[in-house]
Amino acid sequence: MSKRNIVTLPGDGIGRTVLEEALRVLDAAGFEAEYKEGDIGWESWCREGNPLPQRTIDLVERYKIALFGAITSKPKDAAFEELAPELKDKGLVYASPIVTLRQHFGLDICLRPCKSYPGNPLNFIRRGPSGGIAEPEVDVAIFRQNTEGLYGGVEWSDPPQQVYDALMTHPRFRRNFAWCPKEELSVSTRIFTRKMTRRILQAAFEHAVKYGYRSVTLCEKPNVIRETSGMMYKMAQEMQKNEYPGIELWNTNIDAQMMWLTKNPEDYGVIVAGNMFGDIVSDAFAGLIGGLGFACSAQYNPDTGVAVFEPTHGSAPKYAGYPVSIVNPIAMIESACMMLEYLKENEKASRIRKAVAAVIARGEVRTYDMLRLTGSPDVLTKGAASTREMTDAIINALQQ
Ligand code: IPM
Ligand code: MG
Repeated sequence: MSKRNIVTLPGDGIGRTVLEEALRVLDAAGFEAEYKEGDIGWESWCREGNPLPQRTIDLVERYKIALFGAITSKPKDAAFEELAPELKDKGLVYASPIVTLRQHFGLDICLRPCKSYPGNPLNFIRRGPSGGIAEPEVDVAIFRQNTEGLYGGVEWSDPPQQVYDALMTHPRFRRNFAWCPKEELSVSTRIFTRKMTRRILQAAFEHAVKYGYRSVTLCEKPNVIRETSGMMYKMAQEMQKNEYPGIELWNTNIDAQMMWLTKNPEDYGVIVAGNMFGDIVSDAFAGLIGGLGFACSAQYNPDTGVAVFEPTHGSAPKYAGYPVSIVNPIAMIESACMMLEYLKENEKASRIRKAVAAVIARGEVRTYDMLRLTGSPDVLTKGAASTREMTDAIINALQQ
């Protein structure tokens, strides 16, 4: 079989480090690919005024499958400061390139599994009824709508007059906000479409059916956000009734869910939410299985097949310059496994996952986060494994 072409988008900071490690693991598992590296992130912004250059979009368009490391994002004004001097008068505005990439390719389905690894010292624990320690197993799959809602980017400070006039047609706006001068208003819209809402709900229900989860929990706030959350809830109820009667539909408000997931995380199976709440709930569940060092994700467009796999952690600039990298590569390696599964290379994915699980269970090789140390270069003298040593241990386990 000819080699596959995979786009690599290392991005910034530790994104580069962990991506390289994931490629070593893919290699060791016998996955043969031609990697095409694309520029994305902070450096492209500072140098070219565009964190997602057209040539990178073309690469993804052409090869369709990408592995993404991490990028650095900064607020609008800080981003402007770091722009090359000759670009400063061009009216450029920084926008997170990963968000742009998701929208450009319509990667509307985002899946973030959070499953605890036996033996991970970071697993969530609680006191059991008899006073002992209970360690409930977490096994959830979070489906986050990835292109709409508060991430739609339709927003203004001092909105144009037509927008202001349109807002003034709403009785609540007139009653509660008309006192505020237009120049002092900031508005970020939360747009949901029926089509994309249906798609994310369907992906969630289908996943529950395929992998034998009992329930799908919709995590929104329909009691307050009546139109967007309300629409999603209504659609979920109809779909459950007409198409997925074998799956239970639970409805929790995002705030309550944040509380419930630390009380009884083992009760949840598939979670589905809009973009912002999905972002929040996926970090929260990640915390229960060891934090961002373990949290992987897939995002794809079911129509075009374009898919991008990424760890959900950031670029951690403060760890990027260490002479020996200390960060945990597992989230990136697990993201690469999600890519393998997407490419129907299930056997390789499952061998890598088993190797990761074995290293964690054995407990001999642990990165600093797993030892509950504060990140600093000297964690290596306190028994923490480096990024490379962790990867080596996984590769070793893979080869046994
Ligand atoms: C994530 C991240 C991103 C998001 C940031 C980096 C823009 O938090 O993938 O969860 O908010 O979606
Ligand atoms: Mg996030």
